[in-house]
Amino acid sequence: MKDSPRHPWWRSSVVYQVYPRSFADANGDGVGDLEGIRARLPDLAWLGVDALWLSPFYRSPMHDYGYDVADFCDVDPLFGDLAAFDLLLADAHALGLRVVVDLVPNHTSIDHPWFQEARRSRLDPKRDWYVWHDGGGPTVPPNNWRGAFITDGAAWSWDEPTEQWYLHQFLPEQPDLNWANPAVVEAIHDVMRFWLDRGVDGFRIDVVHCIGRHPSFPDDVPPWSDLPHCVSNEHASTHEHIRGLRRLVDSYPGDRVIVGETALPGTRWVAPYYGDGDELHLAFNFATLHAPWDAAAWRHRIERIEELLDPREAWPTWVLSNHDVPRHRTRYDGHESRARAAAVALLTQRGTPFLYAGEELGLEDAVVPTDRLLDPGGRDGCRAPIPWTTDKHHGWGPDPWLPFPPDATARSAQTQRADPASVLHLYRRLLAARTASPALQSGQQDLIDTPVGTLGWRRHTSRDERTVIMNMSAGPIPFDQTGIVEISSHGHGEGQPFAGTLAPDHAVVLRP
Ligand code: NOJ
Repeated sequence: MKDSPRHPWWRSSVVYQVYPRSFADANGDGVGDLEGIRARLPDLAWLGVDALWLSPFYRSPMHDYGYDVADFCDVDPLFGDLAAFDLLLADAHALGLRVVVDLVPNHTSIDHPWFQEARRSRLDPKRDWYVWHDGGGPTVPPNNWRGAFITDGAAWSWDEPTEQWYLHQFLPEQPDLNWANPAVVEAIHDVMRFWLDRGVDGFRIDVVHCIGRHPSFPDDVPPWSDLPHCVSNEHASTHEHIRGLRRLVDSYPGDRVIVGETALPGTRWVAPYYGDGDELHLAFNFATLHAPWDAAAWRHRIERIEELLDPREAWPTWVLSNHDVPRHRTRYDGHESRARAAAVALLTQRGTPFLYAGEELGLEDAVVPTDRLLDPGGRDGCRAPIPWTTDKHHGWGPDPWLPFPPDATARSAQTQRADPASVLHLYRRLLAARTASPALQSGQQDLIDTPVGTLGWRRHTSRDERTVIMNMSAGPIPFDQTGIVEISSHGHGEGQPFAGTLAPDHAVVLRP
């Protein structure tokens, strides 16, 4: 679909998340790299996605595997260098793939020169770039906020030399930046300019809802006080800061996008981050990512999205998996049929879908032995290397940084590409069907009445129409629908009239 003011590319695109450490290893050191990603761009073009989101590849001591950034404007040597990034970007663009990079504005690494300066003394000019408080002395933090990924840990650490606490909503190695300081805002704007000038198509903005904080730092109250503070942080100043990010990005030509990670408890919390069409272009909504395999639960979430997102300004997003949670096939107890049906749902809802590399192979999480566990947040399983080939090392160096997911040979890209019945081919057919159908890309959506345990929706424009039905129950269900099966999650009957019954854990796309 062509761009139009009402329908820019990021509304009709499917975005594919690449976690650079785990994607493809060109230099054989067992860790993925930018050259590896570049070498696999033709595979992504063949698959049919429209854009890539690259998780952080910046200089980092890797306490949080790259989300602790020590230099926002350079590539970590583990992944390559700026020249490799430029080549990757040029090749992606030549293949018609847009590239969105991660922006991590809430915190830096403890090793970032800004923090190194800030902690030199209370009088350092950079001191106020971070959030410092006296609390009640070395044993009593300023409030009860909890940090993420630290069991029972406070979101504050005591800095002995300068005798103050600093805030970190994540690890102690990730001090929070002080967005109330205009110099910080300008510094992050400069980071954005650096990448926009290089030609990126936008930013995925890490925990963007966390950047504005209540100036009096009140205690969290139950039930939020039992959870990391980042899951509930809310302050009006965040919206002002996001409007500033939006103005900056919109000042560049070419419809650059900002998609914010608004990892909040539900759609009601996410909706305000679109503003009046002047904040995020897209806000992550993890409704389906957290939904159990249950038709009523999915229906409820879809209804909430239709009800709460302004249809003119707030275009929804859909996510089943990412680098922070177990893969959806793992969440569905390994059922391939469920993972397939969920893919049909993901790619046919009204909104922009985000795929996580490897879901198109139907991967499950790796089983990581205790002595190989690395991530403080327990997220190693979903970050296992992508098995590309059928040989012993699946296209990687001999010692990959994490073990491969189960059945790596059978689920490798090489095996599945040769098998038209594979999950990989299902994704490819779905992506092609979506690209060919204005109704699926941009049409309105109406939920339809379907039997208990099932779900269905109609997508339509004035000239195009698709109906999607999905059986999430344990038995076959008759459906009162007609049409030609364009896509079937288990692959049977495509091109034939719908036979009137859906098998368990099965979804189809019907065309008139
Ligand atoms: C959200 C990212 O997705 C996650 O991987 C990271 O650990 C936190 N933000 C902190 O940056």
